[in-house]
Amino acid sequence: MNLVLNTIGASIDNDAIRSLIQENDIEVIDTSDMKIAHCVGCNQCWLKTPGICAFKDDYETILKKLVQADNLWIVSDTRFGFLDYKGKRVMDRIMPMLNMTIGFRDGWMRHELRYHPLNVGLIYKGTAEQEMLEDWCKRTAANIGGHSLGAIALPDTFEQPLNSKLSTLNSQLTHLVIINGSPRVAKFSNTEKIIHSFAKGLEEAGVTWELHHLSNHNEWDAARKAYLDNERTLIAFPLYVECVPSLMLEFLATLPVVHQQLSELSFLLHGGMDEGNEFRLCERFLKTLPTQLGCSYGGTLIHGGSFRIRTAGDKEVARILDPYVKMGRLYAQKGNFLSPEAAKFIGMEQYPWLVRKLVSLLALDKINGEFDQFAKSWGCTRPLDDKPYSDK
Ligand SMILES: Cc1cc2nc3c(=O)[nH]c(=O)nc-3n(C[C@H](O)[C@H](O)[C@H](O)COP(=O)(O)O)c2cc1C
Repeated sequence: MNLVLNTIGASIDNDAIRSLIQENDIEVIDTSDMKIAHCVGCNQCWLKTPGICAFKDDYETILKKLVQADNLWIVSDTRFGFLDYKGKRVMDRIMPMLNMTIGFRDGWMRHELRYHPLNVGLIYKGTAEQEMLEDWCKRTAANIGGHSLGAIALPDTFEQPLNSKLSTLNSQLTHLVIINGSPRVAKFSNTEKIIHSFAKGLEEAGVTWELHHLSNHNEWDAARKAYLDNERTLIAFPLYVECVPSLMLEFLATLPVVHQQLSELSFLLHGGMDEGNEFRLCERFLKTLPTQLGCSYGGTLIHGGSFRIRTAGDKEVARILDPYVKMGRLYAQKGNFLSPEAAKFIGMEQYPWLVRKLVSLLALDKINGEFDQFAKSWGCTRPLDDKPYSDK
């Protein structure tokens, strides 16, 4: 079955969608007016009620249909050359289709599937780079065990190659605006802990900083104002389904396109998986973003392996966080992440073959067992690979 989530509504009719997909068994759901919250990374669908999302909104119906589908199509408008927040939001909520437990699939570390593989396709309008969207479909489908169905442009779409304008600021850095772009509340956010380590490095170098959180809508006005009033802003955020969380895309769309003064936007990107390749599509997107907002690009600091911050002991957490102090000092010194030292911070692109074999044999059972223990401490009474909705 082909499940189509139409996030743009009546501006495209079902017949047009059907003629693009050219298959018999198609169900189209118009999600444009549905009540669908952003995923906030609460992890309840993995660790407390496996397979069931904590939000009781309209996405629950979609999830039950996803479990019956072979192919998932998203119909989305685009913004900044990528899906807009409504299109990305329906994908970020797909987490209950996966388990917390990890393993290697096709040579890459991935979460295990809760149900069957799912293929992913995109039908889009607006201004976008087709190649980037094709890559996103491939990467996203691979995460759910499937293949890409391709990215199909609607007639009123045009390709706009977007080049980044590298940092032009040469003023001394004295103050930095930091925005935590994670949808997870600050108290539980791994990004928050990373930011505080990074800021320790800033402070050691005599740089002052202020912090705003996108997880709290009441802070959005202050975050926007700080971004507009200051020369340098750093947005730190977790990778969500191969790119920016839908909540952050919604915030970015509220920023004025032309900045009032010469300014620079940098990013600190991290995510659950260790391998650097995981972050490359998002990095490519981030390179184009500041130019579209009227700023120059101050580079992106990237590192994986952050999901363990929430589950590991103090020593392991310190091992993950300490290197960010050094990166804070480096940023304070250079005023950006465009140096070779910052580029190296990403680490290895892929686990080498031998390491994959050894991790599979010696470490995966232990890591996945720790998730079991963690779930028990959350009061979980079901197995982590539970299938609450019947498989197709
Ligand atoms: C909806 C969702 C999607 C995610 N997608 C990815 C991903 O594609 N790759 C990855 O490495 N980690 C992914 N993660 C893991 C987060 O990036 C990681 O857990 C991060 O540490 C969360 O930071 P936070 O606590 O500040 O939100 C995802 C997490 C969520 C909730």
